[in-house]
Amino acid sequence: MDVDVNTDYFDGYGAFDVHEMMLKDKIRTNSYRSAIAGNPSIFSGAVVLDVGCGTGILSLFAASSGAKKVYGVDNSGMSEYARKVVEKNNLADVIQVIHGIMEETEIPEQVDVIISEWMGFCLLYESMLPSVIDARDRFLKPGGTMFPNYATLFIAGLCDRKSAKRAFGLWDDICGFNLSAMKQLAMSEPRTAAARSDHIVTDNAELIAFDLNTTTADQLSLDVPFKLTPKSDQLNAFVIWFDVRFDGPDSRVVLSTSPFQPETHWAQAIFYLPEPIGLEPDVPIAGRFVMHPNATNYRSQDLRIVVSHQGEVKTYDYKMK
Ligand SMILES: C[S@@+](CC[C@H](N)C(=O)[O-])C[C@H]1O[C@@H](n2cnc3c(N)ncnc32)[C@H](O)[C@@H]1O
Repeated sequence: MDVDVNTDYFDGYGAFDVHEMMLKDKIRTNSYRSAIAGNPSIFSGAVVLDVGCGTGILSLFAASSGAKKVYGVDNSGMSEYARKVVEKNNLADVIQVIHGIMEETEIPEQVDVIISEWMGFCLLYESMLPSVIDARDRFLKPGGTMFPNYATLFIAGLCDRKSAKRAFGLWDDICGFNLSAMKQLAMSEPRTAAARSDHIVTDNAELIAFDLNTTTADQLSLDVPFKLTPKSDQLNAFVIWFDVRFDGPDSRVVLSTSPFQPETHWAQAIFYLPEPIGLEPDVPIAGRFVMHPNATNYRSQDLRIVVSHQGEVKTYDYKMK
């Protein structure tokens, strides 16, 4: 593993506030709780691995849903607190917290289920999924289950000129000077913000769907086509979001970060364009979405949206740092 990149990454997860923010996201936390509690056929008597256990919350859900043994692995300073949490809840005989990098950690037995909350902004930011896939390939029994077991990424067109002006308008006049040259840089990072569903001006398209029981790490570099049908005459941004699904034998839970669903801490990723694109209602626009880990910092992502419309091809590059 890249030591410098990971020092910052795990230091970040050693702070309490990021865990507070995740735990307070009721949609996120309750989706995991319902999915785990609602699938006794998976968890009752099972051996479970919790990749990136943080405070230990998912391990607690698994143990209270009848898991025989839970291994919670985390490389941040949070593992020390997870251990205390487990003891305080009288579950130390079931949950074993292991401090370490998942890829460098040995689990003493094969497991029936892997639970993990690995999703970053735009699904793949932070590049935690490869660690979960590596754990799956080393420790999941044949026929075992990843939970969540499916993830899907979506795109739609957005027209929200007020938000764009709020986000980038300041560069036009700073103390009477024109700093608009900065706009290009400011726009090259997608914004994490809630997109208003009434500002969505196309249908939405599925970019890619992952079956997490079989996805390989090299499938996480994306170059995928999309086609959107406009409902209006202009867009000035694309919006991207994800769903993950817990498709169990006893029940199914969908954790959605769609702009049409209640907001989560992930909100959506909004990719503003330097100039709006004119649309003709019902005439589809075609494009490609490209996303891959940055060559020097694999936890960051380089992104590109290519749009072919009315005989013109436009390319927009972004970075999630
Ligand atoms: C998004 S948080 C989720 C925490 C907890 N599972 C929850 O749901 O509240 C991800 C956690 O995974 C840990 N993590 C990420 N990659 C890891 C790896 N390769 N090895 C060990 N821990 C990792 C981080 O330190 C962080 O605490």
